[in-house]
Amino acid sequence: MKIAIDGPASAGKSTISKLVAQALDFTYLDTGAMYRATTYLALQQKIALDDAPKIAQALAKATIDFQNGPENDQKVFLNGEDITEVIRSAEVTGLVSQVAALPEVRQTLVQQQRQIADRTNIVMDGRDIGTTVLPDAEVKIFMTASVLRRAQRRYKENIAKGMTTSLETIKTDIEHRDYKDSHRAVSPLRQAEDAIVVDTSDLNIEQSTAKILGIIRQKM
Ligand code: C5P
Repeated sequence: MKIAIDGPASAGKSTISKLVAQALDFTYLDTGAMYRATTYLALQQKIALDDAPKIAQALAKATIDFQNGPENDQKVFLNGEDITEVIRSAEVTGLVSQVAALPEVRQTLVQQQRQIADRTNIVMDGRDIGTTVLPDAEVKIFMTASVLRRAQRRYKENIAKGMTTSLETIKTDIEHRDYKDSHRAVSPLRQAEDAIVVDTSDLNIEQSTAKILGIIRQKM
């Protein structure tokens, strides 16, 4: 069974998708982490972020792996290096949409995502899963929340980590990233026609997870 969970930045997709996958004993794939890893790879190898052929070449030689931890956490590795933290940095977050817009990068990553989905029951989260990667997914969710609510959640998480970016800056960054992701030429962020919208503005993590599990169980 394939479950596609798409939506804008900081809507809680990865947190909730992980919990949904755990409850169903399905594999979870964070496709955003793959675009972030590719961005980090280009920065590490000092490849210009608009040099699509070079980035694609480096990506073809690289391996991106995921490892599940005991606390429902997932670590991300690039060529064996633990990049879990660094790919969430402001630098990578600010540049990832540019790299994700490159058709050559998307082609490679979409192919890898489909290969993973072929082998197992999966919950995959991203921007184009329901529209492009798994158009035949049995369940498609479009998870959203107001931009203020998304920014407030990110702000709280940042404070807990000792980061001090203002709420206003976080909100502007989220809006910019959503704009870029929705306006690129190749598989932009878009709700699939057959997706069910789940607005989490007034739901906490447990409520959002329960709502999505309810939708999935109706189709099992
Ligand atoms: O989900 P996350 O915020 O980690 O995604 C980081 C970025 O990766 C997005 O802003 C988008 O540019 C890109 N992305 C994408 N397609 C996906 C998943 C993520 O273009 N399926």
